[in-house]
Amino acid sequence: MIEQVERDGILEIVLANPPVNALGRAVREDLAAAIARAEADPAIRAVVIRGAGKMFSGGADITEFGSLPDAISLPEVIDRIEACSKPVIAAIHGHALGGGLELALGCHYRIATPQAKVGLPEVSLGILPGAGGTQRLPRLVNVEAALEMIVAGAPISAIKAHELGLIDRLADKDLAADAHAFAAGITAPRPTGARHVQGDLEAIERIVQTSKLIKPGIDAPLACIAALKAAVELPLDQGLLVERDLFFKLVEGDQSKALRHAFFAERAAAKITDMPADIAPMSIAKVGIIGAGTMGGGIAMNFLSAGLPVMIVETSQEALDRGLGVMRANYEATAAKGRMTPEQVERAMSLLTPTLDFDGLADRDLIIEAVYENMDVKKDIFARLDAIAKPEAILASNTSYLSVDEIALATRRPQQVIGLHFFSPANVMKLLEVVRGAHTALPVLATAMATARQIGKVPVVSGVCHGFIGNRMLSPRQDEATALLLEGASPAQIDRVHTAFGMPMGPFQMADLAGVDIGWHRDPARVETLQDALCAAGRWGQKTKAGFYDYDDKRRPTPSPVVDEVIASFRDQAGILPRAISDEEITVRTLYSMVNEGAKILEEGIAQRASDIDVVWLYGYGWPRHTGGPMFWAQQTGLVTIVDGLTRYAGAMGEGFSLSPLLLAKSINQEGFDD
Ligand code: 3HC
Repeated sequence: MIEQVERDGILEIVLANPPVNALGRAVREDLAAAIARAEADPAIRAVVIRGAGKMFSGGADITEFGSLPDAISLPEVIDRIEACSKPVIAAIHGHALGGGLELALGCHYRIATPQAKVGLPEVSLGILPGAGGTQRLPRLVNVEAALEMIVAGAPISAIKAHELGLIDRLADKDLAADAHAFAAGITAPRPTGARHVQGDLEAIERIVQTSKLIKPGIDAPLACIAALKAAVELPLDQGLLVERDLFFKLVEGDQSKALRHAFFAERAAAKITDMPADIAPMSIAKVGIIGAGTMGGGIAMNFLSAGLPVMIVETSQEALDRGLGVMRANYEATAAKGRMTPEQVERAMSLLTPTLDFDGLADRDLIIEAVYENMDVKKDIFARLDAIAKPEAILASNTSYLSVDEIALATRRPQQVIGLHFFSPANVMKLLEVVRGAHTALPVLATAMATARQIGKVPVVSGVCHGFIGNRMLSPRQDEATALLLEGASPAQIDRVHTAFGMPMGPFQMADLAGVDIGWHRDPARVETLQDALCAAGRWGQKTKAGFYDYDDKRRPTPSPVVDEVIASFRDQAGILPRAISDEEITVRTLYSMVNEGAKILEEGIAQRASDIDVVWLYGYGWPRHTGGPMFWAQQTGLVTIVDGLTRYAGAMGEGFSLSPLLLAKSINQEGFDD
């Protein structure tokens, strides 16, 4: 797990635990033994610790969390390094994250390549740095910078870390050689823990008052603050005890379990269960997009930003100009926020070829259709593509509901057809549902997954069904939410239950944002549903400043008396006497019913695994990450509780509702979804 090389009185310890040099049990034991060797051997004058492979270290081994410590702990190893009587130098390349950076903080000096990144991302796993990071970092950099790094969790560049005083030296070209030379010139250890903390409680309070990262009910950031206060107030040994205590409490808590689940779920989603190891993704060098509307333009931006040339096709010059204008405006808005340079904007736009010539797509490796949801239109486009695209081209549809299999059969090469369901705004949202059709060839699927990662998306494979994973689960939620309105709830009450749960918005806020008129038949005289009534009255959502809510000029919503009246008249027509609806009923009928649909998606094999469903909801709809996603949350809540709730309200949920046999079986057998 580690390699040791001694040369000229310097012991080089190389962490060798691929892929990320996680500091698991064996690494810690080897590291402690190597430090003991350095301490005991009079020929060794100094020690360099570095990482083999692509990084220094990705931190503690997260898979070990929750198991009983049966070996030397990381804090103990780091304490021994800090106490070593010979100078210890960390030589950092790639990443030094979490426990990896804490290990480097325990060393007496740090040298890094300018490209390296260092950070304490533990907060994103629902924990805090638990191997001295909260105590040693503010002894090297001021508490403001330490707080920012620990509470935000975002890594910083080695160059920035050097400016802050966290890194002593930036390596020139050869890190190992530079570290060796650096070590040779150092005569005495310099323990970080012996330094004074740079800052006071007031500095911490000032940031706490203004920070958006500290939210009531979210445990880890609050614990980070408590640990930093301990760093200011207490000597190192006592501060370390406070940190350790907070760490263990968090590790045992539901939020950290959920966030760790989310971490591994995201990585598991990249794996396709029946993909043979010898299938390599094809190379995608040129992309074509059909449709320069909101979706097509947003999709194009992903590829342009990743440096891939895109040809975008429209049917009229006006639509093309409008689409290009929106893309440029979006890029310029990003540049105005400082997240892109003007040169990057120009570079991205220069990779774009707008055209009205459909046949221009003939040389493209990947062509994505992003026109409106109409099967006939899509079939027509795919038949035309079939006639012009090169044989190995991947033909993708951005459909959000329609059958990819039916679309594929409009071509003579259904094996080349796949669904790529981007989420709006497509240049921002991380989720990509990769819809695997019945005929989709494995190399096509592998290429879609690889390309998704290339453009920074989190891909999840879905089988073909109406709405795929995400939108299919929205459907029972929306049906129940609408039924609850008629039975006596208000849009505000239902939305509040969802936002209190942690969703960014509730079902009606979402409908207003997306457009109440989506899917409306456009005949104001035909009023059969609540949606018809609102649309007929011009209440199309935020875009008309009226939907389920009224909106002011700043798009701030207020409950609408008009909507109350519309709902009341529907109740009258249906002979429904409104009743008081409890928040618990809303939770069961709108959230538990989603879990039920998720279980059906699983039993039908539409999703490969329950955690894939979680990833869809975390990255596509803003499901609160600290609950792990709908399926993990259901397991934490208890599948028996979910089934009980659904059974209790089954009558109210009407004939459309049926309990998932898988959900029932799992609850009876007391199993998790993936057991
Ligand atoms: N522990 C265990 N496994 C880890 C790990 C870790 N700290 N970090 C990554 N892995 C695993 C991943 O699960 C993945 O496994 P798989 O191949 O079986 O799916 C594999 O290593 C490769 O990971 P990525 O696909 O994420 O590799 P990348 O090269 O894209 O990214 C990385 C590398 C930036 C290091 C990224 O893996 C990462 O962000 N890791 C987590 C970093 C982190 O949060 N560290 C803090 C850990 S907690 C801690 O240190 C507690 C301490 O304070 C006591």
